[in-house]
Parts: sequence; C-alpha cells; structure tokens
Amino acid sequence: MIIKTKKEIPSSEITAETSYKNRREFLKQSANVALGVGAASSGLLSPTASAQSAAPRSAQQLNLASKPDWLAQKMASATLAPNSGPYTTDEMLTPYEDVTTYNNFFEYGTSKDDPSRYARNFQVEPWSVEITGEVNKPGIYSLEDILRPHTFEERIYRHRCVEAWSMVIPWVGFPLGDLISRFEPTGNANFVEFQTLIDNDRFPDQNSRFSTIDWPYQEGLRIDEAMNPLTLIGVGVYNDVLPAQNGAPLRLIVPWKYGIKGIKSIVRINFTKEMPSTSWNDISAREYGFYINVNPEVSHPRWSQATERRLPAGLFDRRIETQMFNGYADEVAHLYAGMDLRVNH
Ligand code: MTE
Repeated sequence: MIIKTKKEIPSSEITAETSYKNRREFLKQSANVALGVGAASSGLLSPTASAQSAAPRSAQQLNLASKPDWLAQKMASATLAPNSGPYTTDEMLTPYEDVTTYNNFFEYGTSKDDPSRYARNFQVEPWSVEITGEVNKPGIYSLEDILRPHTFEERIYRHRCVEAWSMVIPWVGFPLGDLISRFEPTGNANFVEFQTLIDNDRFPDQNSRFSTIDWPYQEGLRIDEAMNPLTLIGVGVYNDVLPAQNGAPLRLIVPWKYGIKGIKSIVRINFTKEMPSTSWNDISAREYGFYINVNPEVSHPRWSQATERRLPAGLFDRRIETQMFNGYADEVAHLYAGMDLRVNH
C-alpha cells in the first residue's frame, strides 16, 4: 500500500490538486486560452507560480514545443480528470518544474537536465506519423489528421521509472485504443510497435559515438495492452502541450509499466504479428523485459523495485512502497493471468 506523503512536503513546493483544478476551470473559461494565446505566457501553467506568485513566464522559459492554433484550441477544451476512479489519483501532483526538468530522453543526453537544456525551439510542425503493417488503413498521417478526431481528456497518473523514482502527473491525452481502431488492424495484428523520430540536428545524442541505444528508440505493446482504456496517447501535461523534453508532440503513456514504455516523439506505429524488439530489451534482455510491468516483487538485477523515491525528493527521503502494476492491478492484472511475471518481466 502506498504511504501518503502529503504532509511532509512544504506547501511552497507543491500544487494542491484543488488549486490546480481551480486554475484548470479558470483556464477553460479564458478566451485567451481558447484562442491559444498566452496560456504559457500568462504563467498560468506553472504550479509553483500558482502557489507562490503568478510571475509571467514565456513559452521559451517553459521550454514548450511550438503550438499550432488548432492544437491550442483542442487542448483548451480537454475534459477534466474525474474526482475519483481508475483514471485519477488524489496523491499530490509533482510540480511542473520537476516534471519538465527531470527527464529521461536519451536522444538529448543521459543527464536528467539534458532534455530540458537541449530541447529548445523544438517544432512540432510539420510532423507526421506513419502507420504500417497489419492494418487496413496504412498511410502517412499529419499530426492534425492523427489528433483532430479525438477528444482530449486529463488523466492524473502515477509515473514510475525503472530507476525507482516516481511522479504524479496530470497528463492530457486520449485512449490509444481509439486511435488504433481508426486504422482497422487485421486479425494478424498481435503487437503494436512504436518508433521515435530520428533527427541528428534536433537530437544531439543520436550523433554520439558513446550512445548505447541503436536509434530510433523503439517500444512495443501487445495489442490487448494497447487497447486497454488506461493506455494513452499523451499530448499534454498540466493543461498545455507537451514540452519537447516530455515527448512533444505525442508520446505513449502506459501507467502500469515502467516509464521506459512511454516512448516519446512518435513518428511510426507499426502493427505486427510477432513481438517487436524494444530498445532497452535489445541492450539487456536480462535487465529490461518486453513487458516491463511495475512489480515490487521482481527486482532489477542491480537494485530492488520494492520501493520508489517520490519526486520531488532528496536521495534518502520520501521513499514509498511500490504497488503491483503501479496501483492499477484492478484494471490490468487480467492481461497477465497465468503468466510467470518473473520470466515475463
Ligand atoms: N522515449 C525516447 N524516445 N527516448 C528515451 O530515452 N526514455 C524513457 C521514456 N521514453 C525515453 C523515452 C524513460 S526511461 C522514461 S522513465 C520516460 O520516458 C521518462 O518520461 P519523462 O521524462 O516525461 O518523465
């Protein structure tokens, strides 16, 4: 069971859920936001700004990806997370600053602050996603084609990295299953494979001789995992578009799996009969399985997964117990009935 840590956090460091939601309501009524002008520049997106002062911040300071008007308008009409249920949690949100400056995005480098440092001026237009493999409607779809038919919704999810740190993040997105249905997978589509953009100019570590990843970054899901209602295409965080360092313009969010699965800046979705290879599994299958489900009972070969450091935190404080399937067992345990989760880790 998770140990709640709300009272240990100085109020200046956190955004109370109610405060964020009140501001979210305000944003929904704001004509400026509906027009896509100034959500970032007004400072309304910074949780610490709301808790302290609403100091203006520019999109550049927040390191947001560029935002076409149609996307800003869709973002402004996203539905709020419900007050309770599987798609939300009442645990304290991780501040925007931590969500957007403590990142894993190895295309930018291996330090946690490399992505926010090097992801400046990332453009999301033009952007397209190629749909290939076992589907009746393959093709190259523009970002607008991909996103426009979907209603965006807020989901407040726990986000647990294999490195044993975790956050609570108000994502904006829509169910991956809804996107998949549009392409009409054939009966042979047992798996879905995802790939990140290759771009040596924008992703400096794709040029590095020391990089361990064979680019592009790749991930995969079994089709029933992909269709599970918890699985999201993420397009935003804290009520605005994803900053580049968080995977603009679209990424995968699978909250019962370690964050590795949450592939960023997706440009290809491929439907396959056989299990696809995944970047970290290729590097070390012993350490990173295909499934990579959050499981406190299966240690990583080099560290325990029984507990996690809930951010923001120092090295030795705010350690909480890790939950089976990251607390989403009621929604997903049936997907693995009869499987040995030590073998299929
Ligand atoms: N996607 C790409 N393309 N490259 C990466 O290095 N890192 C993964 C995942 N998606 C990664 C990626 C890992 S290890 C984690 S924990 C999450 O992104 C981190 O997401 P966040 O930075 O938004 O917290």
